[in-house]
Amino acid sequence: MSSPKRRLLVTSALPYANGQIHIGHLVEYVQTDIWVRFQRMRGHEVHYVGADDTHGTPIMLRAEKEGLTPKELIANVWKEHKRDFDDFLISFDNYYTTDSTENETLSQSIYLKLRDAGLIEKRAIEQAYDPVKEMFLPDRFIKGECPKCGAKDQYGDSCEKCGATYSPTDLKNPFSVVSGATPIKKVSDHYFFKLSDPRCETFLREWTQVKTPLQPEARNKMKEWVGQPGDSKLGDWDISRDAPYFGFEIPDAPGKYFYVWLDAPIGYYASFLNYCQSKGLNFEEWVRPDTTTEQYHFIGKDILYFHTLFWPATLHFAGYRTPTNVFAHGFLTVDGEKMSKSRGTLISAHSVIESGFNPEWFRYYFATKLNDSMEDLDLNLQDFVARVNSDLLGKYINIASRSAGFLVKRFGGVVSDAAMANPLLTEIASASEKIAALYEAREYAKALRNIMELADKVNAFVDENKPWEIAKDPEREADLQRVCSVTLEAFRLLSLYLKPVLPRVTAGVEDFLSIPAMSWNDVTKPLSSQTPIKPYKHLMTRVEAPQIEALLAANL
Ligand code: 2FM
Ligand code: ZN
Repeated sequence: MSSPKRRLLVTSALPYANGQIHIGHLVEYVQTDIWVRFQRMRGHEVHYVGADDTHGTPIMLRAEKEGLTPKELIANVWKEHKRDFDDFLISFDNYYTTDSTENETLSQSIYLKLRDAGLIEKRAIEQAYDPVKEMFLPDRFIKGECPKCGAKDQYGDSCEKCGATYSPTDLKNPFSVVSGATPIKKVSDHYFFKLSDPRCETFLREWTQVKTPLQPEARNKMKEWVGQPGDSKLGDWDISRDAPYFGFEIPDAPGKYFYVWLDAPIGYYASFLNYCQSKGLNFEEWVRPDTTTEQYHFIGKDILYFHTLFWPATLHFAGYRTPTNVFAHGFLTVDGEKMSKSRGTLISAHSVIESGFNPEWFRYYFATKLNDSMEDLDLNLQDFVARVNSDLLGKYINIASRSAGFLVKRFGGVVSDAAMANPLLTEIASASEKIAALYEAREYAKALRNIMELADKVNAFVDENKPWEIAKDPEREADLQRVCSVTLEAFRLLSLYLKPVLPRVTAGVEDFLSIPAMSWNDVTKPLSSQTPIKPYKHLMTRVEAPQIEALLAANL
């Protein structure tokens, strides 16, 4: 490794604790996990933390509906989420919850620092209120008739029938989804984070436009918000909600709670703090403004504002470091369309496993689609089958099965050391920094294209040398050992390059080759005659087309 040792804190967005993990979520966790595993292989110090995002009205109401306390509900959901992440080999160092004492303490102290900096303002606002349930209603809990076409039972933002968009106050005959009552208007005090304060404007303009190497699309979007001096569209941010609310109470405001989006990103730090305490790491060293550590957040493009405006401002004005960068990805479509329950394409992570799919098929497929942009990516189910079978089985795994048998049967699993000086191997090994640079830049699709091109070359080498024919000629023993040794070393190098994407398969490869867990530097440590390989055992099976039908049916 040429670069000095880096210290990285990495997060993926915290999933809400009111629903299942589906394949749309998995794109992000797989994207982050590949990056994290790559950084670990490079020898850097990496800490990857996550948590369930547990607060807010929907979770409170769902718990009530299920006859549970919110804490019981989120404990159940946490177990499901953790199971799903483990199944998909997402290698969190700590998976926590935002409903923790660490998060409560951090959120309150951050709030107090913002207040002391003069950035919190109390203001009375008027909102929809359910007089029966005695609670304020978020927009999505109000329904009514479309003001344009009169369609019944439409949400407060847009009509599913005619496509009109409007605000909840425009609905005709509105009703509360919670109790059915007609909402009334009610005034109450709310607490605002004054993002319109000139200090925030100046800071965010600098942070989004100069300091942070945001993706170009992200930077441009933020430019619209932070504008030019004197022309900012930043409004103050309402960070409080009235009781009843499942969340943390605001220290100087009894009956008022932090809006879930205030404590959710602080949940990244709370998870990391919890981890630091259990591992004896110095949390302060990572979060103070002059730290030399790096902090990265992987997110979906829908929550960019929270991570590139609200979160850095919160951190900065509370006296913390700000993120080194925020990496946003696009949405997943299935066969070119938005995921849909009725088509069975809202595929839960658990159903993938229950239907007998290998999670690494998905990791690989998503990786072949991922790049550094915010473009949407498509899971084409036919293409999925073809890619997995032709790339992973046909091109990659096949290499091992073509060479290992002869080595074990004829040479006791011993490779030829002399064979390691070979132009094909030199070519593959010399691609290592190029492939590393692509992983670093989150250009996984390109990295995998490069790796599969190398696999093509290895297969061409086998086809040209025809070990199965050499094996018939007793005079050509040495030749057979050479060809199989080259092929197997090539397989080792390809496995090293694929390891961030396919951790389980490559762990099997390390075992079968009798080598220690590979890091990126091991590109230069070829197989040796000193450690004979073990007999080849099956590393991965093919995906069969009927499995796809079964998966869709399981999600209907
Ligand atoms: O959009 C979401 O699913 C949120 N639960 C993400 C929170 S990310 C972080 F800020 F906590
Ligand atoms: Zn309508």
